[in-house]
Formats: sequence, structure tokens, C-alpha cells
Amino acid sequence: MKEARPLGRHSAACQTARVMARLLVVHHTPSPALHSMFEAVMRGAKDPSIEGIDIVSRPALAATAIDVLEADGYVLGSTANLGYMSGALKHFFDLVYYPCLEATQRRPYGFYLHGNDDTEGARRGIDKIVTGLQWRLAAEPVSVLGTPSKDDLDACWELGATLAAGLTLDDR
Ligand SMILES: Cc1cc2nc3c(=O)[nH]c(=O)nc-3n(C[C@H](O)[C@H](O)[C@H](O)COP(=O)(O)O)c2cc1C
Repeated sequence: MKEARPLGRHSAACQTARVMARLLVVHHTPSPALHSMFEAVMRGAKDPSIEGIDIVSRPALAATAIDVLEADGYVLGSTANLGYMSGALKHFFDLVYYPCLEATQRRPYGFYLHGNDDTEGARRGIDKIVTGLQWRLAAEPVSVLGTPSKDDLDACWELGATLAAGLTLDDR
């Protein structure tokens, strides 16, 4: 009979990674304003006081259903475009919606939006899709018009920190 092989370093690392909760940040970042908001979210999520959470970010055009299935909570970031969310974030939802529909219900999410004059249509679009996915809004959405102020970036920080800290409490 073949003897069971001891776990190698890689296997052990994979097992450790699987028990660690993961926050996935899916973002469309086409300009410096969006980049500053994305960075603030990531700083909040990675705050040293929040321990034991794996933070992963993916551009919306590169994120996959596997990324979504392997995470435990989500932050979405988008521009407002033509009265809706960015085509990039919409593409993300088109890609992951059905593959993730059953497995990700009740998972926490939050989102931030940036526009020049009105992000309401983008917010409604996201609300509608995540209602279908049955994700759970876990933080106040952040909406910024024009150049992000310090308060706006603080709100982005708070968004990232809230989602990450929430995962330390979640019963997965
Ligand atoms: C094709 C196009 C459509 C846009 N539609 C909207 C919109 O409906 N509402 C809005 O507030 N901003 C809109 N914007 C502005 C973008 O949201 C804005 O350029 C983006 O958030 C990046 O901001 P920044 O250029 O100030 O860095 C649009 C921009 C483009 C290029």
C-alpha cells in the first residue's frame, strides 16, 4: 500500500491560505482621482490593526468568477459613465453573475463611485445586480464628484477598513 506523503511547504501554505478570510477589491481605475480612492480603500483594508484577512485586488476587466468564489467579501469601485456604472464593472458582473449566484449569497460588500456630476444611475445599477446576487451591504457606499477631498479619501479608507474588519467577525 502507498504511504500518505507528508504535506510539503506549498500544500501547508495552501491550507493556511484557505482558512484565512479574503476581501476582494474589484475596481475600475482610469484616472488619478479613482487611483487615490482605490489606494485609500486598500490602506483601510490593510490597516495593521485588522489581523488575519487576506486582501486581494483585481481590475474589473481582469477579475474572474474564481476570484469571487475564493473571496468572502467584496469592495467594488467604479466611475459613473453615461448614467450607469462603468462598462468595466458591468462586464465583471456579466462574467461572474451566474457562476457565483448560488455560492456567494449573503456575503458582505461595499462600493465606491466617482463621477463628474451624478453617480445615482451607477448606484442603482449596482444595487439591482447585487440584489440579484443576494449580497449584503456592509458599509455606507462612498460617492465622490470631482477631485476627492481629504474627507472623501477618509470615507474610502473607512469603507476598506469596515469590510476587512467585518470579515474578522463573520462566521463563514
Ligand atoms: C463617456 C463618459 C461618460 C460619463 N458619464 C458620466 C455620468 O453619467 N455621470 C458622471 O457623474 N460622470 C460621468 N463621466 C465622468 C466620469 O465619471 C469621470 O471622468 C471619471 O469618474 C474619472 O474622473 P476624472 O476624469 O475626474 O478623474 C463620464 C465620462 C465619460 C468619459
